[in-house]
Amino acid sequence: MRLDRYLSRATALSRSQARRMIRAGRVSVDGDPVKQPAIPVAMQAEVVLDGELLAPPLPRYYMLNKPLGVVCATQDPSQRTVFDILRPDGLHIAGRLDIDATGLVLVTDDGQWSHRITAPANHCAKTYRVGLAEPLPKDAAEQLRRGICLRHEAKPTRPAELEILSDRDMRLTLTEGKYHQVKRMFAAIGNRVTSLHRESIGTLVLDEGLSAGEYRPLWPDEVSVYRIGR
Ligand code: URA
Repeated sequence: MRLDRYLSRATALSRSQARRMIRAGRVSVDGDPVKQPAIPVAMQAEVVLDGELLAPPLPRYYMLNKPLGVVCATQDPSQRTVFDILRPDGLHIAGRLDIDATGLVLVTDDGQWSHRITAPANHCAKTYRVGLAEPLPKDAAEQLRRGICLRHEAKPTRPAELEILSDRDMRLTLTEGKYHQVKRMFAAIGNRVTSLHRESIGTLVLDEGLSAGEYRPLWPDEVSVYRIGR
C-alpha cells in the first residue's frame, strides 16, 4: 500500500493532509524518514508519525450487488464501473461478472484473501441463477455434470451442478471460472442465457437486504469462515 494511503487509513487524516505530513518529514518507515508519499509500505512495516507508532490499517472486505450495465473494471471510457459505486482507494475485485450479469461481487484490498477465491487451483464454488431462452432437454443436468467441451478450451468443464427451478429458470454451481463460462456452457448445449445473477461465492451468499447497486462490509465471521470448494 502507498505510504499516503496507509497514513490516511491508519489515522483520521485525509490523503492530502497525509501527503503534506510525509513531505514535511514527519513520517518514518522502519526507522528511516520517508518524504515520498507514493512509496510502497508493507503491512508489517513500522510506520511512525510525529514519534508515535501507528497501528496498521485493517484490510477491507465488501459484498456488492452489481446492477446490470456496470463493468467489473477499474476504469472504462464509456460504461459505469464498480468503482463508480465503491471508491477505489486501493480496492480490487475478487472475481468479475459480465456487464449484463447481476449479483454478488466481492471487493477487497486483501490480495491473499482474494487469491484464495480466484486461484483456479482452489476450485471455489460459485452459484448462479440462470434464465434461459429455451427449455432444457432431459439429459442437460447430466451433460453439465459430466463436463462440456467448450470451443477454444483444451479440457472439458469441471462437473457442474444444475438445479432446475422451472422450464427456463435454473441454478447452476461451478467450481471454475472460465471466460463467459455459464453463457458458453449453455450455448454449447444449444441454448442461450437471457439473465445471469450470481448468488454466492464459496460460503458467501449475497445479502437479500442489498438492492442492485448497494454494498456492505463483510462481517468478521464472513471473512474468516470463507471456505473454498464445496
Ligand atoms: N459466466 C458468464 O457467462 N458470465 C459471468 O459473468 C459469470 C459467469
